[in-house]
Amino acid sequence: MTDSRFQSDEWKIIETRFEPERGRDSESIFALGNGMMGQRANFEERYSGDTLQGTYVAGIYYPDKTVVGWWKNGYPEYFAKVPNAPSWTGIDVKIDGELLDLAKCKVKVFRRVLDMKEGLLTRSFTAVMSSGRVAEVTARRFLSMSEPERAAISYAVTIRGGSGTVEVAPWLNADVYNEDANYDEKFWEKESAEYDGLRAAVVAQTRKTAFVVATAMENAFTVNGKSVKSNIALSAGDKTAHCSLTYQYSDGDTVEVKKYVAVLSSTNHPVEGMARKAMASAGEAAKKGFDAMLDSHVRAWAAKWEMGDIVIRGDIAAQQGIRFNIFQLNQTYTGEDPRLNIGPKGFTGEKYGGSTYWDTEAFVLPFYLSTADTHVARNLLLYRYKHLEKAIENAAKLGFKNGAALYPMVTMNGEECHNEWEITFEEIHRNGAIAYAIYNYIRHTGDQGYLAEYGLEVLIAISRFWAQRCNFSEEKNQYVILGVTGPNEYENNVSNNWYTNILARWTLKYTVDSLAWLRKTSTVKFNSVISRTRLDTECELSLWNEIINNIYLPVHHDLGIFLQQDGYMDKLQQTVKDLDPAERPLNQHWSWDRILRSVFIKQADVLQGIYFFEDDYEEETIRRNFDFYESRCVHESSLSPSIHSVLAARLHDIERAYTLYLRTARLDLDDYNREVKDGLHITSMAGTWLSIVEGFGGMRIRNDRVYLDPVIPAAWSSYSFIIRFRNNPLRVEVNGKAVTVVNLSGESIPLAFCDEQLTLGPGEEKKIAK
Ligand code: BGC
Repeated sequence: MTDSRFQSDEWKIIETRFEPERGRDSESIFALGNGMMGQRANFEERYSGDTLQGTYVAGIYYPDKTVVGWWKNGYPEYFAKVPNAPSWTGIDVKIDGELLDLAKCKVKVFRRVLDMKEGLLTRSFTAVMSSGRVAEVTARRFLSMSEPERAAISYAVTIRGGSGTVEVAPWLNADVYNEDANYDEKFWEKESAEYDGLRAAVVAQTRKTAFVVATAMENAFTVNGKSVKSNIALSAGDKTAHCSLTYQYSDGDTVEVKKYVAVLSSTNHPVEGMARKAMASAGEAAKKGFDAMLDSHVRAWAAKWEMGDIVIRGDIAAQQGIRFNIFQLNQTYTGEDPRLNIGPKGFTGEKYGGSTYWDTEAFVLPFYLSTADTHVARNLLLYRYKHLEKAIENAAKLGFKNGAALYPMVTMNGEECHNEWEITFEEIHRNGAIAYAIYNYIRHTGDQGYLAEYGLEVLIAISRFWAQRCNFSEEKNQYVILGVTGPNEYENNVSNNWYTNILARWTLKYTVDSLAWLRKTSTVKFNSVISRTRLDTECELSLWNEIINNIYLPVHHDLGIFLQQDGYMDKLQQTVKDLDPAERPLNQHWSWDRILRSVFIKQADVLQGIYFFEDDYEEETIRRNFDFYESRCVHESSLSPSIHSVLAARLHDIERAYTLYLRTARLDLDDYNREVKDGLHITSMAGTWLSIVEGFGGMRIRNDRVYLDPVIPAAWSSYSFIIRFRNNPLRVEVNGKAVTVVNLSGESIPLAFCDEQLTLGPGEEKKIAK
């Protein structure tokens, strides 16, 4: 599977060739981010070859007009897009009047290294210009993890082959556009530029949404290591700002610029005076200096790795793959701001609009629950809490009443942005994932208080939605949910999707149970929830209980499986083995009509439900369902194989679990789907983490205890991971002979190892033979 363009290394991604035809791919792979902003690995010097310029600022969006075939009532007016923000990476280099441009020079040496341990990107190359002059360049950049509004670049060029004039000119540009814009509209307006002394800034405002971004730079030049202060000019146009050093070079001279950048957004600062503030911030960065900034950045990364690393021994490609995934997840979301979330492509491309999907709750939350402080996952939950009012409005637009909430399929600010009816109106299972995340958060963290403060309001609103979305079928004498799309988007408008129905039932039950718990625990808090939600504890609860006890869940008795939806067995029964490999992926070879009628499943659907509620089913039931659905699943969503992998490991089918794990482990690094140019699959990266920790590690949280049931793939000699339980870190190391658990915290951790219960005291280590 590995066509690796990158050298094997445990901590680094190393590219050793200049391949212009894969330039966009590398721009995605080497992208940097720090939760607050992100940057594709665009070259600093001008590049006239193919490139996707990408500079992103968290939390801002543009409401792009939607494109639909036929307008339907209830569709949202816009699709939120993350705008390509004012660009700050540019540094022009002109040698004797000729612009350095790798598309026009002869590139003799090229090397790009992403050091994931340090969050540092280094690029070096040797280019021969048409004049015969040779430019040797080393560029280093990082987006600070410790100072999230700042970034720094160090760019050094050594010129060989004679003497002459070199101009090194860092610039900022607010005249940017998006490739992914439905009407080719520009997303920015009111661009301006200014400079003051050594500093310069550009400011731009998004059209319609009026987010303002101020981007500033201060530059420090050296020649052969000595600071240069003369022959530096600053200028500002309407939308761009330039700084430039002109120098008479001799053969072998090295000119270096350190570019200190600050990016401020009106989501965090008053608009008035933002340019000045950004310039002051860039100035402070310059005062601190590149090395000192880098030092604190590296320390911030070290803290993340200390708690979130997975170490795999005996398989360097796997080690590199999982670290890449962990690195990207940490670059995308740091959890300090409850207004931010994790788009499927993070800060690495424009696709998916940078918006929030159910991916966050269903796939990504467990990663942050286990690898970060509790407040990080709590902020992901608060994000949805803050959108509750909009989710209620969204449901009201569709005809639901009485505070029922339907969270959007895709959103930036709580409003629905998706507008394919079969997803917008029908893929309602997303509501259940948001409820499930509350449960998942509480079982991990023990933060029961979240229920009274925020959680129950969300649960009640979602339960109200389910209660209204169900209807009683006289025919079946049961409650049914009609006209839905399950996680399997290869079929729409189905009735009684098992996954949706089971989630609806579970949400209602969890809400009823949580209310009962709160009533017992604190009358004051209970009454406060009731008054905030105006819940009718008689009528509403009795309807919810009726649905819980009498919702229809399709099963196939002879096969002993849950049925994906009504009528699934009427389809021509085939398995993936019957497919011609030349016709895969189906979505690129078959008509949509053929896909919809086929038995083939895009991604885990019934199995997604079994994954969530695994403890409710016996091993044999899980096995039957797994065998049936795995053989029909084409895994054409990158979110899919990891869930199947976790279940295969649960069934102790290690080989299958490993094969499925491999489908996600290096998905982007090795570009299995030939689409990495558009950006990385950030949310499915969390799935890879799940397949190791929950899959091979068998980690579960049950009844206030960490359960472990580890297995190890044959290709690995050992692996280890750290998880947090109630914020207490626990290290688990597995090899072929034993499992070693170390309590890294100051509190006892209740454990269960293959169902044998034990308590590990503070700092205690235990080795258990396998
Ligand atoms: C998947 C969805 C997912 C979306 C964003 C789609 O291909 O089917 O489940 O939410 O991608 O990752």
